[in-house]
Formats: sequence, structure tokens, C-alpha cells
Amino acid sequence: MKIALFDTKSYDRLHFDEANRKYGYDIVYYDASLNRDTAILAKGADVVCPFVNCTVDRNVVDVLKQEGVKLIAMRSAGFNNVDYRYALSNGIPVVRVPAYSPHAVAEHSFALLLALVRKLTHAYVRTREFNFSLSGLVGIDLYGKTMGIVGTGKIGRAAIDIAKGFGMRVLAYDPYPAEISGVEYTDLDTLLRESDVVSLYCPLTNDNRHMINARTLSDMKDTAYIINTSRGALIDSDALLEALKEKRIGGAALDVYEEEAGIFYTDQSDEGIADDTLARLISMPNVIITSHQGYLTKEALSAISETTLSNVKEFEEGKVLTNQVK
Ligand code: NAI
Repeated sequence: MKIALFDTKSYDRLHFDEANRKYGYDIVYYDASLNRDTAILAKGADVVCPFVNCTVDRNVVDVLKQEGVKLIAMRSAGFNNVDYRYALSNGIPVVRVPAYSPHAVAEHSFALLLALVRKLTHAYVRTREFNFSLSGLVGIDLYGKTMGIVGTGKIGRAAIDIAKGFGMRVLAYDPYPAEISGVEYTDLDTLLRESDVVSLYCPLTNDNRHMINARTLSDMKDTAYIINTSRGALIDSDALLEALKEKRIGGAALDVYEEEAGIFYTDQSDEGIADDTLARLISMPNVIITSHQGYLTKEALSAISETTLSNVKEFEEGKVLTNQVK
């Protein structure tokens, strides 16, 4: 099997080469993201392996089909960027990596939260300049605060365990509630109204784009923090920026951004960025942005490469595709 991996970095190559020792596939690595302009690079490949900011729409599927691609093996949990129904109707199944390390993402969301509420980014910059003043660095305890968890799947549940460890009251919203001890399920409006921290752990779907918008932001406490490690388009970024400017919200930590494609995972330090909303968000003292790195741990990268290649193996052997997107 020949596999074309798109949007790859050195750490992807390292972990895929390692996992591929067992499989011996012919892997070609491309820096380029998979989209209409680059789909032709899949020529001769049996499998394409896109990442989170690739665009696998109908046009791309048409090219992949024409070039003989038989399987789309996402190396991510999310699959909002692939038209999997259209691909399947063209005889190309889509598989993904549903779980690699939910802890990696959940822990990153708390790293962001702690950095935000304890003003660690400001403290770090100060001490590097030998400024040991504490003025302006007063934070809040998480203990006793209410954590609103939106989406109680694998990552949400890992986050719930961490929140409970901090002694937080946990409120949750999920259209498919589970039995989780110490968690109060409620509707989204109540969760937004009562939470001191709102953290998103649900997939982006056709129904929940901009679930955090001007209206829902106005329901939140003006001291509340919002954390997003899921998908950028869950939040209306312009509405968030307005709420931050008008001090109607305490702060935000974002590992994902709705227009991140083409910006995140690249070095723009020479040119700057043309996205004014993102630039303004980055400039806010109570905002922390990371570049979609929630998954970026050694454990998660190893699991991603291993599961992706075992997905390909199942396909090669004509087995039931355990991780098919349906
Ligand atoms: P999961 O499938 O285990 O859980 C998702 C949960 O969200 C399910 O319980 C589902 O019922 C719930 N849900 C669906 N629609 C909802 C809605 N409108 N409101 C509230 N809950 C809703 O998925 P998992 O593994 O926990 O991942 C969650 C998301 O995290 C992924 O879809 C992906 O977008 C994101 N992610 C981000 C990463 C990063 O590096 N920042 C890495 C991996 C995943």
C-alpha cells in the first residue's frame, strides 16, 4: 500500500516511521495540506492521510477518486473537514483515530486554564526581565468554582476527573448524557449562566457552529473564562472579541480558531498575520492562544501513527473497518 501523508511535520514523520517498522508501507510525506490545489499529489497513492486543517470536500474527493485513492485515513479524531458521505458514495471509506490520548487534550485545556487564571504568561515574561513585582498578577482559586463541561465524551470525561481533583463543582451538557458520578447534567443555557469556567469538548457539527455567540456569551458571567480545545468554529470569534473588549467575560484560552487553516502550524513571525480578529485576540491581556497543540504529546503521536496504520491494515485485509466514520 502506498500512503500519502499530507500536512506533515518532523514529529509526524518520526512517529510514523517508527510505527511503520511493523507494517512496511510505502509512505510519502508532504508538507502541503490536502486541498483542491494539492489533491493531485495523491496520484499513485492507495491511501491519503489528511490532518485537521486539510479540506476534503467534494472537489477533492473527485480528484482522489480519479487518481485511484481507495481510502481516506484521517489521523485525527475530528472529521468535520471531510465530506465523508460523499467520499463513501464514491466508494472511498473514511477512517479516523477516535481516541489516542484524551488525557493529552484534557490536560492541555487545564494548562491553558491555569495559565489564564494565574496569569502565568505575564509572570513568566516579568521574571525573565528580572521584574519581580506582583502588581496585577492576582488570580483566582479554581477550588470551589463551577466548571461547565460541554461534551462528556472521552476528552470531556478526562477533564471532569481533573476538575474534580481541583475540588470544582462540575456541570455538564451533552445531548447524550452518561452516568458519571459527581457530575450534574443540565441544559446548555443553565450551564453557561452558572459556570465560572466553560470548556468545550464536543465535535463541530452542522448544528453547533457558533454555539458560543453574542447571545450565549451574554448569558455567561462577566467573570467567566472560556476554554476551547475542540474546534474553532464552535465559537463566533468576532462576538468573543467584542465580549472581551467590553469586559463582559473574564478571559479566553483557545487552542483552536475558526480561521486557523493556513496560519496554525506555520511560522508567520516574519510577515505577521492578516487576520485582524486573531491579531486582536492575541493582543488581549486575558487571552491565551496555542496553535492546535492539545494532541501534541509523545504518547498521543505514537497512538495516532499506530492506529492510522492499523486502520490501513484492516482495509488492506478487507476486514470490517473498526474506526470508519459513518
Ligand atoms: P467523543 O466523540 O468521545 O465525545 C464527544 C462528545 O460530545 C459526545 O459525548 C457527544 O455526545 C458530545 N456532543 C456532540 N454534539 C454536542 C453538542 N452540540 N453539545 C455538547 N456535546 C455534544 O470525542 P472526544 O474524543 O472527546 O473529542 C472531542 C473533540 O475534541 C473532537 O471532536 C475534536 O474536535 C476535538 N479534539 C481536539 C484536539 C486538539 O488537539 N485540540 C485533539 C483531539 C480532539
